[in-house]
Parts: sequence; structure tokens; C-alpha cells
Amino acid sequence: MERTSPPLAELVRRWQHGWGVACGLDPADEADGALHVLSGQPGRHLESIVLDADGDPGSLRLHAAQVAGSPHSDWLTVPTTAPAAVEDVLSSEGLRLAPAREHFMRTDLAAHPRRDAAPEYAVELDREGPVLAARITDERGDPAAHGVMVVHGDVAVAHNIATYRAHRRRGLGGALMSALAREAVHLGAGTGLLTASRQGRHLYTALGWTRLAGVVGAGTRTRR
Ligand SMILES: CC(C)(COP(=O)(O)OP(=O)(O)OC[C@H]1O[C@@H](n2cnc3c(N)ncnc32)[C@H](O)[C@@H]1OP(=O)(O)O)[C@@H](O)C(=O)NCCC(=O)NCCS
Repeated sequence: MERTSPPLAELVRRWQHGWGVACGLDPADEADGALHVLSGQPGRHLESIVLDADGDPGSLRLHAAQVAGSPHSDWLTVPTTAPAAVEDVLSSEGLRLAPAREHFMRTDLAAHPRRDAAPEYAVELDREGPVLAARITDERGDPAAHGVMVVHGDVAVAHNIATYRAHRRRGLGGALMSALAREAVHLGAGTGLLTASRQGRHLYTALGWTRLAGVVGAGTRTRR
């Protein structure tokens, strides 16, 4: 009987598509339960994203072994509801774990709260095809925050959301996300997806996003 993909795997596919567009990457290949993309970043020659590590532990071990044995510095990304167990598997396969876990999150964009930046800041939004780029500048015109959202069908994927240190905790992250979400809804998106850092998770939780899974990352150990 054909195996139907669990919802998490489908959301991961949708997220990866948006992330790939945001990073200017070629579309990923899907094989053996993972998405594979040549990312070309340092330490991430080939990045493989395991689609269903929780339901298919065999695919997790397979891809972990491939990354461990790669002649390049490759990277494995694993969305999972059992991050500690996944980390044990990746370590036992000889991979080098990322210093911190991330978090896979989603939201209903139509219900996204509206947050406005304080009056001394200006929010600008540009669109190039499916890519929305927001930036916030301070009263001198210097950059204070920026971020991107890629809209594809009914999904919008947020990427590279950041507030410059001197401007943090003044509501700019919220204003940025709210401007992007509003425009994404205008373009037909209903679901927002992203992977969040620890700091980002605080921001998105405050904006009503929910965590679907942890995201464990690990790379090929460099040979001496
Ligand atoms: C995450 C980040 C974008 C937040 O930007 P910000 O402009 O400081 O966020 P806001 O001021 O809009 O925060 C809104 C709310 O989110 C929560 N929040 C944001 N950052 C938080 C943090 N570091 N710790 C705890 N709560 C936080 C708080 O509830 C905050 O409200 P409060 O300040 O009234 O308590 C910023 O810390 C950053 O750029 N970090 C480095 C890059 C990064 O991790 N980006 C996220 C990638 S997923």
C-alpha cells in the first residue's frame, strides 16, 4: 500500500520551497525520504532535509550515514518532534551537531496581529515576483530591521528576519512580521511557515505562531 505523507512532511516540503526561493537555490530533489539541495554555503555543500524522521527512522539513519561519509562538508536538517532522540542518532553516526536546535513554526496569516513600528521608524515593503522584502530604517535612514517572505500558492515562508542589536525589543520584529503577513494575505497566502532560532521563537510565539517540531542540524566532521 502506498504510504501517505504525514502533514508535517508536506509542510516541510512547502517550507523548503520558500526557503530555497528566498536563498536563490535550485529546486530540491526528493529521494529516499529527503529533500536534497545544493546550497553551496560553507559547511553545507549539499543540504539534505529529512521529511519524516519520526515515522521513518530508517531514512534518518540512511541520510545521516551519507552525510557522515561524504567527501564534502554536507549538512543534514531534521524536523522532528523528538529532537533529543534524533541528536543521539546523528551523534552515533559520527555527525557534528549544530550548536543549537531550531524550531519549525506555523501560523494562520489572516489572524496575524497587527503591530506598527514606533513613529521614528519607517517600514518599506518591496515585491519581486514571489519574494516580499521588508526593511525598517531609523530616523537617520539607517537600517534597523529586515526580513523576507516568499509567497507560493496559499503558503508564505518567512526567512532571514533580523533586527539590528541597537534596535531590539522596540517592536520592530513584530512590525516587520506584521507588514509581511499582511501583504502575503493580500497575495492569497493563508499559512505562514518558518524555522526559528531561539530568539526568533520568542518573537513568533508572541505573535501567535505555534511550534510544530524541533529542527536538528548536523554536518560532516572535517577530516584531519
Ligand atoms: C528575533 C529578533 C528578530 C526579534 O526582534 P525584535 O525587534 O527585538 O522583536 P520585538 O521587539 O518586536 O519583540 C516583540 C516581542 O517578542 C518577544 N521577544 C522578542 N525577542 C525576544 C527575546 N530575545 N527574548 C524573549 N522574548 C523576545 C517579546 O515578547 C517581545 O515583546 P516585549 O519586548 O514587549 O517583551 C531579534 O532578536 C534578532 O534579530 N535576533 C537575531 C537574529 C534572529 O535570531 N532572527 C530570527 C531568525 S528566525
